[in-house]
Amino acid sequence: MNTDNLQTPYFMIDESKLIDNLEKAKLLKQLSGVKLVLALKCFSTFGTFETIKPYLDGTTSSGPYEVQLGHEEFGGETHAYSVGYSKADIEAVKGLSDKIIFNSLSQLEAHYSDCYEHASLGLRINPERSMAGQDLANPARPYSRLGVKQALLSPEVLDKVEGFMFHMNCENKDVDAFIAILDHISTTFSDYLDKLSWLSLGGGIFFTYPGYPIEKLAFALKAFAQKHDIQLYLEPGEAIITRTADLVVSVIDIVENEKKTAIVDSATEAHRLDTLIYNEPASVREATENGVFNYVIGSCSCLAGDQFCETQFETPLKIGQKLHLMDSAGYTMVKLNWFNGLKMPSIYYQRIDGRIECLNSFNYQDFKATLGKTH
Ligand SMILES: Cc1ncc(COP(=O)(O)O)c(C=O)c1O
Repeated sequence: MNTDNLQTPYFMIDESKLIDNLEKAKLLKQLSGVKLVLALKCFSTFGTFETIKPYLDGTTSSGPYEVQLGHEEFGGETHAYSVGYSKADIEAVKGLSDKIIFNSLSQLEAHYSDCYEHASLGLRINPERSMAGQDLANPARPYSRLGVKQALLSPEVLDKVEGFMFHMNCENKDVDAFIAILDHISTTFSDYLDKLSWLSLGGGIFFTYPGYPIEKLAFALKAFAQKHDIQLYLEPGEAIITRTADLVVSVIDIVENEKKTAIVDSATEAHRLDTLIYNEPASVREATENGVFNYVIGSCSCLAGDQFCETQFETPLKIGQKLHLMDSAGYTMVKLNWFNGLKMPSIYYQRIDGRIECLNSFNYQDFKATLGKTH
């Protein structure tokens, strides 16, 4: 399949880049003994799971449907976590999950008797420390609802749970900062850790970032696991799929209002939501640092501030030209929505042998089906 003929917008996931990240994950596992479960909240495009499965130990989830997807399409260990489980949620997930992690002592209390025979139970703890750039994504922010603070814990909890989960990093590239939090956890929670059989340290550790000292991270994790005689897990999402996919769009129009804006056939609000909510501009493969032609890359949605970035090119953009918005795998395909009735991007997978597989494509009927029954 020639990419020239593909209709934009579309995601193109690159298997060879995915494998590069997965090889780093494999090294981390080998050196540390840690187990890795893919955070489906970040990336759930199951057409790629055949590539990922041999490298990772299973999946973790944030809601009941992710549990089911992980169980059905990935296998291995299925971890279930949710900020809040209803009785019906628990009925749905308890037979599919190897581990069920509760967000609060009241949730543990409410569901313990329904679950304890089905899965190993865990509790999310709030370590009151974090490495997260933005308040919106900071689990240790004031009044955080995520996890139980140490002051509320008592040893009786160990009668009910075999594991704890901490999640306190977001795209953290600083291994020393991570190790400092690890040391804090080791000291503060040692009475518990020594009696638990597993501990998940969540996601957000950017160990696939170029130059990241994987050995140093692995050594720290191994020492921690040995000290507390505990099986460690990490829940990577972004680290597994970072820099593996482009969102490919076409320039539809160019308008000028003091600045030139190239309007493309996609929208951050519908197709690359985190660009908008975290105010993190996209990078365009065709842009050059020293280009003299400046453009805002504007979206096709009605939202006035909806733009991908402002960047420079060596030559003027042309209508019909394709642009590649890089690093578009994480928290994109899982957040797609039909706002404005825009065309939904197709999802392609460029295999290591050069083949391009279409993993999904969408049409008007799919749009309509999200809004009502069509018969
Ligand atoms: C509990 C938990 N685990 C894992 C992750 C995955 O994080 P990341 O994609 O940054 O690795 C998140 C992200 O929010 C999370 O909340």
